[in-house]
Amino acid sequence: MTNTHDPEQMIVTRAAEGDTGAGATKSVYIQTYGCQMNVYDSERMRDVLRPLGYGPATTPAGADLVVLNTCHIREKATEKVYSEIGRIKELKDAKAATGGQMKLVIAGCVAQAEGEEIMRRAPAVDLVVGPQAYHKLPELIARTARATGERLETSFDAVEKFDSLPVRREADGPTAFVSVQEGCDKFCSFCVVPYTRGAEYSRGADAILAEVRNLAAQGVREVTLLGQNVNAWHGAAPKLDGGGIWGLARLAEEIAKVGGIARIRYTTSHPQDMDDELIAAHGSNPALMPYLHLPVQSGSDRVLKAMNRKHGRDRFFEIVERLRAVRPDLAMASDFIVGFPGETDRDFEDTMDLVRRVGFAGAYSFKYSRRPGTPAAEMYGQVPEEVKDARLQALQALLVEQQKAFNASKVGTTIPVLFTHKGRNPGQIAGRSPWQQAVHCDGPDNLIGQIADVTVVGSSQNSLSGTLASTTVMATATAFA
Ligand code: SAH
Ligand code: SF4
Ligand code: F3S
Repeated sequence: MTNTHDPEQMIVTRAAEGDTGAGATKSVYIQTYGCQMNVYDSERMRDVLRPLGYGPATTPAGADLVVLNTCHIREKATEKVYSEIGRIKELKDAKAATGGQMKLVIAGCVAQAEGEEIMRRAPAVDLVVGPQAYHKLPELIARTARATGERLETSFDAVEKFDSLPVRREADGPTAFVSVQEGCDKFCSFCVVPYTRGAEYSRGADAILAEVRNLAAQGVREVTLLGQNVNAWHGAAPKLDGGGIWGLARLAEEIAKVGGIARIRYTTSHPQDMDDELIAAHGSNPALMPYLHLPVQSGSDRVLKAMNRKHGRDRFFEIVERLRAVRPDLAMASDFIVGFPGETDRDFEDTMDLVRRVGFAGAYSFKYSRRPGTPAAEMYGQVPEEVKDARLQALQALLVEQQKAFNASKVGTTIPVLFTHKGRNPGQIAGRSPWQQAVHCDGPDNLIGQIADVTVVGSSQNSLSGTLASTTVMATATAFA
């Protein structure tokens, strides 16, 4: 998961390839930027559009509808949107020249933050829809056909959105994201998310469990619970359970009971919400995978305070220690920002020290990016670009070294792998280890969707290679004889 070589680039996905689009009369191309929340939202947009006859397009050229699901987190992410709009405009003009029509929708966090500016700057955009309003896409698209149609929809109601989304979802392989929480009330001084995603909201357990059961029935074996502050989840307990409020540990316990679900992950967590119950769950719930992405941002107490993070470095050490006490093989991942306003060499050294002391299996690290409208943008002591560059390079070198060492530590061990797809070479299959490592080995396609033991023989920065363990080979030979 480390993206240490290209810190501005998070996730870019294209139309789901497994989706056959049977019965489709029109095509939609969705390009996703940013975090997993956006990946989930893109999938749900496809679900909302399917009943209207939209099937997936594998390229934007010629599509009837193009959606850019955008990210506002750093300046570069936002700039990308405008250059992509320019590219799509050419395709749109090309389609119009042949008598066709392509609609362009801007969704996601840039839509929320800069909707009006997009409408002003980019006339090629037909519709701007925020992250809490995309359930209204069918109606909004129909309205754009009319001259009077409203073209900007950035209302803010997560409750209404979740209630309006179709219950049925189409699974795309053996792993799935399930959004359980949205929004953020933490207001870290550098971050736009509280402004683009709104207030913290937790979906009820009934709705989440129904979604998980539906996915499990389609062969999903691993769910990743998503939220901007996923461990702040405090949702309504199922009605049958007599009501009340559950925390994430209890939710994970119930999800583990759903037939077929073998693995549970959750992301992204905040150290402040890592409560005793959730820490204990890592020791008692074997479905919780031993890999936790817990962003710390900085190792300096002074910087953490200026970031309004509400945790110090000692609290972070304490959490890691307690987690490893109940789950010794737990691997940690994190996010870091270098060059926050006022960060001195000494502060940066504290970050390096924290990294050395904890040891990370993966990490995202970024140069601080000034986001207008956030408190840090106005702070004194903005750090020069070249200092940020040097710090990022030093930090990433250390993180890469740690990631390689972590991967290498698995060589010679036998580990359970959830196979998710065919490998790059013929006869190869690929999947994920419990620690989120990509693993590939030679094996039969019919293992895809299953968990099987692999003996690790090689490792690199980003993946492991192995051979199917002899027990797995015997079991498959019997099962498929
Ligand atoms: N909710 C999560 C992360 C949300 S944003 C959390 O609380 O940690 C994902 C990551 O982007 C953050 O963890 C942070 O490392 C980075 N980020 C957010 N705003 C940024 C900014 N202005 N400049 C650089 N990185 C930023
Ligand atoms: Fe942003 Fe902080 Fe909220 Fe994370 S906790 S989304 S970094 S404001
Ligand atoms: Fe980006 Fe919005 Fe996610 S700003 S990181 S897409 S919550």
